[in-house]
Amino acid sequence: MDKIIVEGGHPLNGQVTISGAKNAVLPVLAATLLTQGKCKVQAVPRVRDVTTMVRLVQELGAGVDCFEGDSVVLDTTGINNPIAPYDLVSTMRASCLVLGPLLARLGEAKVSLPGGCAIGARPIDLHIKGLEALGANIRLEEGYVHGIAKKLKGVRHTFDLVTVTGTMNVMMAAALAEGETVLNNAAREPEVSFLADILNHSGAKIKGAGTEKIVIQGVTSLAPIECRILPDRIEAATYMIAGAIANGDVEVLNCVPGHMEPIIDKLRQTGVTVDTRENSVRVKGNGLLSPVDITTEPYPGFATDVQAQFMTLMTLAGGQSRITETVFENRFMHVAELKRMGADISIEGHTATVRGVKQLSGAPVMATDLRASACLVLAGLVAERDTVVSRVYHIDRGYQDMEKKLSQLGAAIRRVK
Ligand code: UD1
Repeated sequence: MDKIIVEGGHPLNGQVTISGAKNAVLPVLAATLLTQGKCKVQAVPRVRDVTTMVRLVQELGAGVDCFEGDSVVLDTTGINNPIAPYDLVSTMRASCLVLGPLLARLGEAKVSLPGGCAIGARPIDLHIKGLEALGANIRLEEGYVHGIAKKLKGVRHTFDLVTVTGTMNVMMAAALAEGETVLNNAAREPEVSFLADILNHSGAKIKGAGTEKIVIQGVTSLAPIECRILPDRIEAATYMIAGAIANGDVEVLNCVPGHMEPIIDKLRQTGVTVDTRENSVRVKGNGLLSPVDITTEPYPGFATDVQAQFMTLMTLAGGQSRITETVFENRFMHVAELKRMGADISIEGHTATVRGVKQLSGAPVMATDLRASACLVLAGLVAERDTVVSRVYHIDRGYQDMEKKLSQLGAAIRRVK
């Protein structure tokens, strides 16, 4: 298994270009199942979750013409298989995004219960409830969610909790349902609005995406999808924090600052200089980091996917900060690893108290999930001596060319087999 070795203490300077958003391309690839014909998706990040989703739509009957550079061209005319098998779904929770599209397209879906990051129970009951409200008959059979829907019918539905992929799943199914669907307590993430825009471009009638109430007038068919994926706000935030922690001067190109406001605000509160332009952000360290409290929340709150990376930054602040996780119940697994590097952190319930230390020290550490793995690399950038991060397949699920991008900024980082 690959490992990443980071030699700490090298300044980070220069520019880094952000890839397309993993969390936007996965639902778009699932949405291609709603269409019949040649779809073209550009600015696709080369990460393992995308490869998994492409393999999944292929398994369901799509012909993948090419997966070259940053484009995927696929033909969804022949979608005929409603079964998303365990070996693909178990490696990536977002595979459950095919549930709604398959029900709408084929009237049947049999999708293995998902795996993915081990950050809590992460059930898909809210996806199921929403699809049942649209008229699907869903049962759990031998580890699979098996749904049948002769016809999906528009409905008023309120999500019990805000769920990002749950909102997307039900929105995609409703796009081809008969009549009007109103979704209340919908997720407002930019990736939800992006998906709605892409579907509307193909002929769907979706209004209100990006707010708590989404109204969908069902249509009978959608044209093949052609789009360019929006930049990854989580990857961008990770490199902004890299610049801040390394006391560097890093310009993050190809990002949407408006999608990262809470993170930019919190970074500024630490004393770091953050200058935003239309499509870029420049972060300059000022030598001293002030402690800042954060609480994760659904968008437009502070993203849970940046919690681990921000915690790493706070391990070196001049005082005590409190980090509260409200989205997932088990998302502090990186704490034990950061402590092995000399961080002073204690956890009580959903809150981690981080007391800043002068210096982290390199250690062998283990990535436990996608964003936790990024936080360990960030810690390695400034730790004394070498940090060896194992289980880096987590990084490969969601960060394109992380070692290359950090090396270009001046980090001493390499991958070993
Ligand atoms: C998406 C993102 C993930 C991010 C998360 C929260 C994608 C592909 N992944 O994941 O990177 O960390 O949003 O911003 O976009 N829940 C239930 N039942 C459900 C669904 C969710 O109880 O049926 C709970 C979850 O356990 C969690 C909370 O709701 O505690 C939010 O999860 P959700 O928004 O659904 O996360 P994902 O869509 O899986």
